Amino acid sequence: MSSSPASARDGFSSGFGVLAATLGSAVGLGNIWMFPYQTGNNGGAGFLLIYLLATLLVGLPLMIAEISLGRSARTDPVGVYRKLAPGTLWWIIGALGLVSVLLIMSFYSAVVGWVFAYVGKSVSGGILTQDRSLLEQTFGGLVSNPAAALGWQWLVLLLVGIIITFGVSRGIEAVTKRLMPLLFGLLVLVALAALMLPGAMEGVRFLFLPDFSRIDGQVLLKALGLAFFKLSLGVGSMTIYGSYFRQQQNIPRTALTVMLADLTVSMLAGLAIFPAVFALGFNPASGPALLFQTIPAVFASMPLGHLLMIVFFVLTAFAAIGAMLSLVEVPVAILHERLRIERARATWLTVLALVGLGSLSALSSSTLSHVQLGGMNLFDLFDFLSSKLLMPITGLLTCLFVLLRWKQAGFVAANSNEGALHNTGLLRAVFTILTKVTPLLILTVMLYGLLG
Ligand code: PHE
Repeated sequence: MSSSPASARDGFSSGFGVLAATLGSAVGLGNIWMFPYQTGNNGGAGFLLIYLLATLLVGLPLMIAEISLGRSARTDPVGVYRKLAPGTLWWIIGALGLVSVLLIMSFYSAVVGWVFAYVGKSVSGGILTQDRSLLEQTFGGLVSNPAAALGWQWLVLLLVGIIITFGVSRGIEAVTKRLMPLLFGLLVLVALAALMLPGAMEGVRFLFLPDFSRIDGQVLLKALGLAFFKLSLGVGSMTIYGSYFRQQQNIPRTALTVMLADLTVSMLAGLAIFPAVFALGFNPASGPALLFQTIPAVFASMPLGHLLMIVFFVLTAFAAIGAMLSLVEVPVAILHERLRIERARATWLTVLALVGLGSLSALSSSTLSHVQLGGMNLFDLFDFLSSKLLMPITGLLTCLFVLLRWKQAGFVAANSNEGALHNTGLLRAVFTILTKVTPLLILTVMLYGLLG
């Protein structure tokens, strides 16, 4: 069996396969696109520090919980709760996660569409420039063109559908496994080039010297939301991947490794982008446009920049597709294991729903820009509803489930592989954090962020 969850109740075969798949879910646009732009929008280092705390105190314990719940029940994210707590309403955790998945896929696929478009633009070389206004116009032109935005997004969704149905996911996972170190290496190179630009240190200061005056309830909520999004939590992705984990896998150690590797990729992306932002006079608060405007300018300063820029966008597309596979796996597994719909059909049903839902995001800067709610267009609204509302709520409910239903004994038994790992002391500490600190933090930040 390969490291792909392509057929239900198959599993990851090797320890490395488990790690690669889980890392494949975590690493994606969240690191390369969202982390830099949110850090830029929210004042830099202060935001980074809070995001790190959220990752440590909320993300890591929840990742351990979700993976171990999945492995214990070995079924889809709704079925997990029906199996572990029959006759109760806890399955709502899985259902809420499903809603988040659909919202995330809507805007995520739109952004992967932009990445695809930038692969094309990289090949033609027109964006290999440090001319700020040209880069801004290029990005603006793409997102405000309904046909281009839709076309690229649908291509992405079609590709994801094909990968899953034809089981090419084996190939893709095998490829992703090899491409991940490449992406890593390339990010190191881009960061070095960015750091050599005159004036780059300003960007480093922005990323590492906290200015707490920018921190308010909303910023806290955004950092919490990013921690969820980054580690694929509160949606069922880690639960379903957990259900494919090997029985002898060390879950806490895997989760820690994924968290550290994921943070490293984000930091590298930050170091590739912020020095360039300040050196070349871009606005750090450019929002979703940030990556697409600044990265080409860095490549323009590098030897072999043209070739490396193509490679960069291709690798980013692969990383994003790896993350998308874990999102799509949630509805597909639910349709397949709950409703007994055949996997290929479940996949295309999901893709079809996503073409509809995704179009709403892809058109949110053009045809549908007038559709606004609370000052947000549909793209921003879906992002808000998923990472700032549903995912934290789902996370909170997961903590409560572990506290009230699974209890310390269940949590410790599952994560120590029934005692084989001799990590009981550590697990008791994780249990305490997960059931006391984590829920309290989520609740406080949500209340403060939404009402304060
Ligand atoms: N973690 C992925 C990223 O950073 C996004 C994701 C969110 C994937 C939720 C699965 C579930 O790009």
